Amino acid sequence: MKALVVYESMFGSTRTIADTIGSALSQRGSVRVVEVGTLAAEPGGAVVTHDVDLLVVGGPTHTFGMSRPATRAEAVRKHGSVISTGIGIREWLDAVRLPADIHGAAFDTRVGTMRLASGAAAKGIDKWLRRMGVDIVGGPTSFLVKGMTGGLMDGQLAKAKEWGAQLALAVE
Ligand SMILES: Cc1cc2nc3c(=O)[nH]c(=O)nc-3n(C[C@H](O)[C@H](O)[C@H](O)COP(=O)(O)O)c2cc1C
Repeated sequence: MKALVVYESMFGSTRTIADTIGSALSQRGSVRVVEVGTLAAEPGGAVVTHDVDLLVVGGPTHTFGMSRPATRAEAVRKHGSVISTGIGIREWLDAVRLPADIHGAAFDTRVGTMRLASGAAAKGIDKWLRRMGVDIVGGPTSFLVKGMTGGLMDGQLAKAKEWGAQLALAVE
């Protein structure tokens, strides 16, 4: 099983979740975990090659959904420095070409326990992947943070490890 985990992160929580999912997946195959702007800047960064079996895409919830240039700019204004300084998941999905037979799953980080109140970027990512013909092997999944920059809530790393392991089993 070959997996690609693409993430966007402003303050590090989504990156930590992506790394944890990647580490769980690596028990079952080869994995690359990559920040979306870094990937997009590479030659061929908008093409997922045919040897990738599983694409996992995640980002922070901004204004109830996936980030936009304006919400990323707000994050910079509020915090000074951020991790994802290039494009976001939304722009990468808009440009990417995927192989026909790929499996996938979407995740996000968000504040609060009620999705209706906070929104969830994963829902939009999941919808986008489905529209592109991806075979979804794990429902859109949220990992909770303590406020905008406060880091992950307790139990989220264990949840990410478990989710990654389940995804690996689903594509075997
Ligand atoms: C501009 C902006 C808007 C946000 N809007 C929401 C929101 O609508 N719902 C929510 O749950 N969290 C919201 N958040 C909090 C982010 O979800 C949180 O900062 C993120 O999960 C942290 O992940 P990161 O460290 O990888 O950036 C917002 C954060 C920013 C910077």
